[in-house]
Amino acid sequence: MAIKKFVVGCFTDEKELFPAVKTIRKSGFKIHDVYTPYPVHGLDTALGLRETSLHTAGFIYALIGLCTAFGGIGWILTIDWPQNYGGKPHFALPAWIPIMFECTVLFSAVGMVLTFCYICQIGPLVKKHRFHLRATDDYFVMVIECTQQTNTHDLEGLLKSLGACETKTETVESGWWLGRYDLPAPSVASAVIALILITSLSACSNGDAGREQNRVYMPDMAYSRAVETYDDKEHITNKGIFYNAEPAKGSIARGSDIPFLIAKDTPGSTLNYLAAQKIINPITSLSSDDQEEAHRLYLVYCGICHGQKYDGNGPLYKDGSGPFPAKPATLVGDPKYDAMPEGQMFYSVTYGKNLMGSYASQLTTKQRWMVIKYIKMQQEAVSKPQTNTNSK
Ligand code: HEC
Repeated sequence: MAIKKFVVGCFTDEKELFPAVKTIRKSGFKIHDVYTPYPVHGLDTALGLRETSLHTAGFIYALIGLCTAFGGIGWILTIDWPQNYGGKPHFALPAWIPIMFECTVLFSAVGMVLTFCYICQIGPLVKKHRFHLRATDDYFVMVIECTQQTNTHDLEGLLKSLGACETKTETVESGWWLGRYDLPAPSVASAVIALILITSLSACSNGDAGREQNRVYMPDMAYSRAVETYDDKEHITNKGIFYNAEPAKGSIARGSDIPFLIAKDTPGSTLNYLAAQKIINPITSLSSDDQEEAHRLYLVYCGICHGQKYDGNGPLYKDGSGPFPAKPATLVGDPKYDAMPEGQMFYSVTYGKNLMGSYASQLTTKQRWMVIKYIKMQQEAVSKPQTNTNSK
């Protein structure tokens, strides 16, 4: 390090300081710096200092921050670790903007502070030479760098004549920044910091273990749970999603008949047969076309036993002379059957009754209800003939 000589002049007032600075510069001396107890406006201009470039540095740091964030996120999310976030694209620029912005600001701010500290040689472990301690109190301390030709005695005299209350000449060991580190502490400290950084960084990495990217966030958004026609459902069930390809229990397809939910009695029991009394015929009335159809169905499937006149005397029975051994029910005119609820009739037609078999395989649910409604209409036509003209 070079050894340099400086002449120091102390002023008590900035009113004296400014003309002194002017005169000294005019006389061709090189002012090293002026140390003041507080920031003095205009002093930098008086000293001929150029405007700081710190903002340019700030802009560069901001650019570096922006590129770091963009490059970092981009590389991680598209190349190194492309995760499936609900089927969204890996290169999702709009989602990165907040992070990129924050990094820009962070790099710029921290970078400017560090640069400022570096330029001014402010920081821990930096030992600065102090030309006069009262510069932190009430003195304005002007420091003039001497050359070989400088006559320090004359210069001190000049300073005194300009109003300096105190002058002295100092010889200082100086680098270009006029600051000095206390060795060897900084190298030891930086070695320790570097070691900590490297160990903690390497602790984060565990090689290639756990690098399978088999996780999807929000899979419902990426892969539809909806089932397509003819699609095999294995790829859904393989993912642990419950799907058995059956409609939810109790659901009825649009336009289908209301199901008859009463089961067939176990032998010896009449529980369900009696319960069926409560079931209401979903068909409340028959149009004339429906009546015609119901009548036709009756003649095809029932009339052979129950007779065209609903008297239980069809050709198969014929007052006992036919081949059928049991007397079929007299569907019209017998108070028992006149009073029988439609639900119970439906039960017998669906599951059979003693010697009468089940008609569930020949007639649909709707057709059975239609025929029963039709029989009920015949019963009503007989009991109150004047109010019903639809009898056949
Ligand atoms: C093979 C002859 C036969 C045919 C065909 C037949 N039934 Fe019957 N049906 C009977 C006999 C016999 C009984 C009396 C059963 C008993 O109570 O023991 C009966 C009883 C009934 C009863 C009363 C059931 C009860 O719970 O007591 C109804 C209602 C009935 N039939 C409706 C029909 C309808 C509707 C059809 C046409 C889809 C039909 N039957 C076709 C023989 C027949």
